[in-house]
Amino acid sequence: MPLTPLKAAFLLALHATSTFASPVPNPKPNPLSIPGSLIPSIPVPGVNEIINNLAPPIPILRLPTPPIKSPPFTPSNLKPKKVGYFWTGPGNIQYADFLAVYSLDDDTFGTFITLVDVPTSGNEPHHLNVAKDGKTLVGTGLLSLLKTQDVEYFFDISDPYNPVFRNSGRAILSSIGDEIVAKPDGGFFITHMGSAAGTDLGRLTEWNAQGKLIGEFPALTDLSSTINILANQFSPHGLSIDFDKNIILTSDFVVPLSTLKPSLGIQKADTLRLWNLATRSIISTITIPGGGGIQDVKFIPGNKDSAAIATAVELGQVWIIYPFKHRADGTQGTAELLFDLGPRAKGVVAIYTDFSANGRFLYLSLTTANHIAVLDLKDLKKPVRLDNPNEQQPVIGVHSLRVTPDQKNLVALGYFVQQGDIGLINTPADYKVHYVDILPNGSLSFNRTIPFQTEFANRGGGKPHFSVIADLTDPKNPKFNSY
Ligand SMILES: *[C@@H]1O[C@H](CO)[C@@H](O)[C@H](O)[C@H]1NC(C)=O
Ligand SMILES: *[C@@H]1O[C@H](CO)[C@@H](O)[C@H](O)[C@H]1NC(C)=O
Repeated sequence: MPLTPLKAAFLLALHATSTFASPVPNPKPNPLSIPGSLIPSIPVPGVNEIINNLAPPIPILRLPTPPIKSPPFTPSNLKPKKVGYFWTGPGNIQYADFLAVYSLDDDTFGTFITLVDVPTSGNEPHHLNVAKDGKTLVGTGLLSLLKTQDVEYFFDISDPYNPVFRNSGRAILSSIGDEIVAKPDGGFFITHMGSAAGTDLGRLTEWNAQGKLIGEFPALTDLSSTINILANQFSPHGLSIDFDKNIILTSDFVVPLSTLKPSLGIQKADTLRLWNLATRSIISTITIPGGGGIQDVKFIPGNKDSAAIATAVELGQVWIIYPFKHRADGTQGTAELLFDLGPRAKGVVAIYTDFSANGRFLYLSLTTANHIAVLDLKDLKKPVRLDNPNEQQPVIGVHSLRVTPDQKNLVALGYFVQQGDIGLINTPADYKVHYVDILPNGSLSFNRTIPFQTEFANRGGGKPHFSVIADLTDPKNPKFNSY
């Protein structure tokens, strides 16, 4: 295959770091990354020097052009009770990425309220979440590293109808921002699926309430966790935290660089990591054999065993993780098949999930199958599938899912990732916000949409990747989606 400028820049970046030896004698060979990847030998004196030496290899893959501001618009002075925030990339990536705000009230549904640009473009806006106090949003950038831009974008929503871009940040060792969990005391945990150059060895990053990086885990000083991530591909995408039980689960998806051309094929992982929250260290690796990208993991709300579900994308299956059960060899954490979603669910590129707040209903987006599946988990021994697996639903490329705070609707976005001609991931999309009705028995009825292609036609359309939903029915006690 030809050595494109893109790949050359990556290789150059990797070469710059190849002098660091791996502490593991025979790390699993990985055709697209140097042995041991970017993580240097176990830190001895001089860790800071090593980090400084690592800083330059972030590749410049796209010219770091400034963004073109969003075309002029007229904000609405409506003050709806239900508000959707959508972290969105423009069709024409020369324009700024932006956060769009819409009414989700019945009488004014789909009315544009306002938008706010970030000061960069081409980030491929990815996940979005809200801080515990309901006053800050953070959005991640999947491909921010291609322009050496910040990955985390923080917005102040103290005035929920007029969000303000506040600040941005990036980590040092890792990039490719993915899932976000709010910390009880403010701030966030955020998975970074790749190293600072997009290769194997991502990190779990931690941010304070002001949007400053606290740390990247496992820490360079954490010997046993570092050995753990060197032993098996570490591409943390999914993230769920049980703050009461002091545990974290991350799920490994794909090596980001392997999704960019030229590629020997996407390197998919079949593992999750179980962590000790207090020490930010890895307890064990949990494997789903043949999983082919474990995109999502979520603790089941209210489950007394702290069980979690995980999605195995290649298999089209949902597995259940028991973090406090032990395997025959004594290792903590088990995985069992919970439900096979059938032939249409296999190899669908992405399977993301959301739960009803009571943990009973699980919604799963099967991206390239253009389908949302629903499981009733009242009895975990006998999950009941509520959707018709063969139904043609009116969604294309559906990915992000959010159950609204009142549990009456599912906000499903018809867009996953389009890397364009530089990458292998270009899933068809309808670029719509689907506001799906949740019926009393938990199943779905498709109803209203907001078409981002026409709403933002003046910049080539809008690609909404993720939402946060606010319910301001009681203005003193705003409620948000539960994840
Ligand atoms: C759920 O309720 C709707 C509306 O009453 C009904 O049409 C549908 O068949 C029900 N679904 C299941 C799986 O029971
Ligand atoms: C769509 O939602 C509106 C508002 O809740 C409701 O009045 C209407 O019956 C729904 N339509 C369908 C086809 O479900």
